[in-house]
Amino acid sequence: MNNIPEKAKFALINNFGGPEVFVIVESALPSIKPSQLLIKVHAVSVNPIDWKQRKGNHKFLLGAPFPITLGYDVAGTVMACGEKTKQFAPNDEVLGVLDNKYGGAYGEYVQGSEKCFVKRPKELDKEQAAAMPMVAMTSLQALRDKANLKPGETLLVNGASGGVGHVAVQIGKILGAHVIGVSSGKNEAFVKSLGVDKFIDYKGTNLLELPDKVDVFFDAAGIYAFPKVRHLLNHGGRYVNTLPRPSILWHKALQLFTKGKKAKTLLMKHKPQDLQQIVEWYMQGELKVHIDKQFDLEHIQKAHEYAQKGHSLGKNIILTA
Ligand SMILES: NC(=O)c1ccc[n+]([C@@H]2O[C@H](COP(=O)([O-])OP(=O)(O)OC[C@H]3O[C@@H](n4cnc5c(N)ncnc54)[C@H](OP(=O)(O)O)[C@@H]3O)[C@@H](O)[C@H]2O)c1
Repeated sequence: MNNIPEKAKFALINNFGGPEVFVIVESALPSIKPSQLLIKVHAVSVNPIDWKQRKGNHKFLLGAPFPITLGYDVAGTVMACGEKTKQFAPNDEVLGVLDNKYGGAYGEYVQGSEKCFVKRPKELDKEQAAAMPMVAMTSLQALRDKANLKPGETLLVNGASGGVGHVAVQIGKILGAHVIGVSSGKNEAFVKSLGVDKFIDYKGTNLLELPDKVDVFFDAAGIYAFPKVRHLLNHGGRYVNTLPRPSILWHKALQLFTKGKKAKTLLMKHKPQDLQQIVEWYMQGELKVHIDKQFDLEHIQKAHEYAQKGHSLGKNIILTA
């Protein structure tokens, strides 16, 4: 039987606002439902959704159930299993994206549905394991499911040095595409190291005036709406973004006038088979997440201050143990 304490450390927020709203407290562990696991957290990564939710951007959808523990991406050890779980046992090492309202991984323990996790092989360290789930599932589902990217097609990844973009470049290469990576010039060497066939510095080039068209425009950085870039797509080309901007319904209406070009928005889905595929690509040496900065839980404010600038090189993580 695992030794589970009654209390543990959590980074909580008691109101929405800037990074200063975080407080570190000792608090009771969360209880688990029959379909959930209790996880001892080793590492968590910071995603833009975390700092957007900290600001209160989703309060109309999710409410304000303070105190709130944020954080979705987690690597940890299974400490207890709900009676309806089947796949895991105590002491299993796991990674996943939580499906709880507001996440909950910014602490030493978290509860999560069994379907959110896969086992972590020992070759995959906890830092990589915490950094990859959300960005890799987002990129895979955007390119494979929304863009239907085919070998030999040209893929442009806008924001190729960020969390989602730098993984999308690698998945684009795995799927056989000719990949163009766009970021600021200071990150050229990094983006080239990911295997892009061509690099574009968005500060030195007006992306909207590119002479060559592409088959898939993946706006990982969320800069351009479909109407702005549809002229850059080949006939039958696809534009995919990760923010519903303009809205999904507006996308559908616009497509009526775009001669076979399609616009799609990706909202990541919890699919353990996708997470398993990502782990396998890691094990085969085809996919790796770049860790920009590491923080401990006490420095969560600094982690958010840095991440929300929107210029990270890959991912930032928080180590809890
Ligand atoms: N829908 C979903 O399921 C889902 C899942 C994950 C993420 N997302 C969303 O995806 C977006 C990106 O997430 P992320 O984790 O990749 O963020 P990130 O790590 O902060 O990366 C943002 C990247 O954007 C680049 N960038 C900034 N301004 C740019 C510009 N004008 N043109 C081109 N690139 C620019 C930056 O590169 P430089 O430093 O070189 O400027 C940076 O590398 C966020 O809005 C997030 O909420 C959605």
